[in-house]
Amino acid sequence: MTFHIGAKPGEIAETVLLPGDPYRARWAAQTFLKDARLINEVRGMLGYTGTWQGHPVTIHGTGMGMSSLSIYVNELIRDYGAQTLIRIGSAGAMQPQVKVRDVVLAMSACTLTAPSNGIFKELNFAPTAHFGLLKAAWDAAERLGVPTHAGTIYSSQLFYDERPDLQEQLQRHGALCVEMEAAELYTLAARYGRRALAVLTISDHLLTEEALPADQRERSFGDMVEIALHAAFA
Ligand code: ADE
Repeated sequence: MTFHIGAKPGEIAETVLLPGDPYRARWAAQTFLKDARLINEVRGMLGYTGTWQGHPVTIHGTGMGMSSLSIYVNELIRDYGAQTLIRIGSAGAMQPQVKVRDVVLAMSACTLTAPSNGIFKELNFAPTAHFGLLKAAWDAAERLGVPTHAGTIYSSQLFYDERPDLQEQLQRHGALCVEMEAAELYTLAARYGRRALAVLTISDHLLTEEALPADQRERSFGDMVEIALHAAFA
């Protein structure tokens, strides 16, 4: 047990899928895993372990934002030995060719202020996905016929970000979408030599202001979970 995770030693798999929303962790575990059982509920942050096609998998919430993700990912890696960590989350599209419901694989995730920034001083570290996972996810998305993009994304500290100039520059430099967690996940995975990837579903569009209707969320999020599971065990 750690400060924030009540699972006993051995109750967390080496492969961990990480949605921000704890209820999405429950939905994904009940939908995709066999024999899923609750292994954490400290502070309502739900985690489940079961199997997918015979492979042990944990699906654990991270909460919103890099500070919250940092707590869970540090403990999953350092205390429970997680080896493959795949964020499954939502993002806002920043380019016209990226549509609501599409999937984005984050090759890299830039950020202004991640929890890890302090240790790099003036260096701008480039948080990057694990190439093998990224390639496997791309191949899985093609096989499953899910419209998918791969490229750089922006991990913001703020959902309500009132800096239009920053958004403009990111769009100009090809950032595909904005979310709030991937950059810190990639940095922690790099630090501890683990594999990480963010597989994101576009839930809203910053240019068109379109948003995914609530009744269509499950289907789209399901595509993302399948891609993540196939990538983890390719
Ligand atoms: N996650 C989903 N949509 C988002 C947005 N527009 N900004 C930041 N994070 C998001």
